[in-house]
Amino acid sequence: MAPAFFLTENPAEWICYFPGTALLYGREGGAEKMRRGWIAIGILLLSAALFSAGLVRKLASLRGSEPSSERIIAVIPKAVENSWWNQVRLGALAGAQGTPYRVVWNGPALESDHISQIIFLEHALARRSAAVVIAPNDSLALSRPVEEAAARIPCVLIDSPLAETGQLPLVATDNYRAGELAARLLATAIDGRGKVLVINHLRNSESTEERARGFAAAMADDYPEIRVVQSPYAETSLMDYRAQTAELLARHPDTAAVFAVNLETSEGVCRALQREYHARKVKFVGFDSSALLVGSLADGGIEALIVQNPFEIGRRGVRRALDALENRQGEVFTAIPVFVVTRRNLERMKRKFPAALGL
Ligand code: BDR
Repeated sequence: MAPAFFLTENPAEWICYFPGTALLYGREGGAEKMRRGWIAIGILLLSAALFSAGLVRKLASLRGSEPSSERIIAVIPKAVENSWWNQVRLGALAGAQGTPYRVVWNGPALESDHISQIIFLEHALARRSAAVVIAPNDSLALSRPVEEAAARIPCVLIDSPLAETGQLPLVATDNYRAGELAARLLATAIDGRGKVLVINHLRNSESTEERARGFAAAMADDYPEIRVVQSPYAETSLMDYRAQTAELLARHPDTAAVFAVNLETSEGVCRALQREYHARKVKFVGFDSSALLVGSLADGGIEALIVQNPFEIGRRGVRRALDALENRQGEVFTAIPVFVVTRRNLERMKRKFPAALGL
């Protein structure tokens, strides 16, 4: 702790309120006072020297003038808030195994916090990471910071593109086509007619927006008797999607089916249908998977889940960064296939892909 010191009314006297030295300084007179004063000044100078040395070292490491002692691949998810991102983390670690690089995983607590994600990106640059693998949680706000980073070190996008991705490599689900697939599954479940609600996630969360776009386009192109109602974007990822779904179903009592664009929204819809609308047999196709969603699928509360492979997204994202670091040519877009999980194949999928199902 840095010593705090104050000028007394007599400028010749400095009082050092540093634990221990305060005891040295008193109102005794003469030689005793002089001896104690010199001890206090000695401790003060030693503390100041130690403090300033530490400050210099910290500034040097932040400024990046201190060469990083190891080769780091910074992996920055949209958030670290749920099991889906933890699967990405495990995949990223697996991608770096057996290489001279080490993965450093840092991300915001919530997918709606793009400010923190930018700070994590800047910190990765300040510590002289060799490469960055990032899932932009806001395709607009992260565009310029990621492009500036890509001018300095290799950058690979995972899960979600930027608004202006250009030629940055992207490793992700083909989300637009996954949205089209969800539309066909749901249209079949309601015999091609009726009102369908889409429960959206955050604005500029590109992966989920692409799913909603693919879903709406497939319905418009191939199912003219289906009317799609889009929910408003959530303001934060703390949104209560259960309450939002219940409110929309109350406002649209003629709803035949619901599509949710990711893990959080799907769990919210699942809880709403379990609590208030199960008897109405609203058909539901969700995206991503968890124990809650798998349980509801087994009970007949969910028609199908579009399940991604987050482990593979993380692993291939790091491998793509290694390609760039070792000057190997790689694809611009690496599509990671999804699984369609229904009651018919659920037991087999649970045995084959428990992690992808969030089990
Ligand atoms: C889920 O939300 C989206 O941002 C990801 O693509 C994934 O589907 C993770 O929370």
